[in-house]
Amino acid sequence: LTGVDMFAGLEPEVRQRVIAAAVPRTYRKGQLLFVENDPGDSLIILKRGAIAVFRTSPTGERAVLTVIRPPDVFGEVSLLDGSARSASAEAIEDCSALALSRGAFIELVHANSHILDAVMRSLGALIRRLTEQNADHVFLDLPGRVAKTLVRLAGDSHAPMVTIELNQSQLAEMAGGSRQSVNQAIGSFASRGWLRTEGRRIVVTDLAALRRRGGMTD
Ligand code: CMP
Repeated sequence: LTGVDMFAGLEPEVRQRVIAAAVPRTYRKGQLLFVENDPGDSLIILKRGAIAVFRTSPTGERAVLTVIRPPDVFGEVSLLDGSARSASAEAIEDCSALALSRGAFIELVHANSHILDAVMRSLGALIRRLTEQNADHVFLDLPGRVAKTLVRLAGDSHAPMVTIELNQSQLAEMAGGSRQSVNQAIGSFASRGWLRTEGRRIVVTDLAALRRRGGMTD
């Protein structure tokens, strides 16, 4: 649980109770963990790999809402309101995780105010993300959203070069555009020397330029 914000600052014995109550899970690349409207029965703590959280349109198109990487927790929304999953989740790499049942999670929340603080912080972060995504769809054009998505995927890196393991259709699903228009944006960024593509990878060589194109302040 080291590094997992939601469980930081717990007394060692409470941390042990979390570990004892959690069930180890592994997911193969391409495996669906759950789909939207499934009953929300567990909180997932990701230890290794990557998970795409997405919604599907009635015609079967996907919009990726976020990519979860360790050490991160997800699946908290349905646990908190006792309702169905708000989105689907698929392993995009082989993953190992811990699953905490709703009962165990609620018990821990009642026993530890630290967890409640962290849950509130994570919900605040989700609301901020949704607000920003809404604003991006109103204020940014597609190349701007692609640039901003790449910056987000690069994390807080200040390295001169950052490699992002994501193919162009996954990027299109995240930026909210067609594959063709995302390919065009990537091609135009490449011709300006901001990045290059290597198979399924995108190597960002000028993060500052992408930040500017995505309307982000330096
Ligand atoms: P839950 O509704 O239980 O299952 C799907 C999970 O995906 C949800 O909890 C959140 O953890 C996460 N999630 C849902 N919507 C978003 C979003 N727009 N951005 C980031 N994460 C999300």
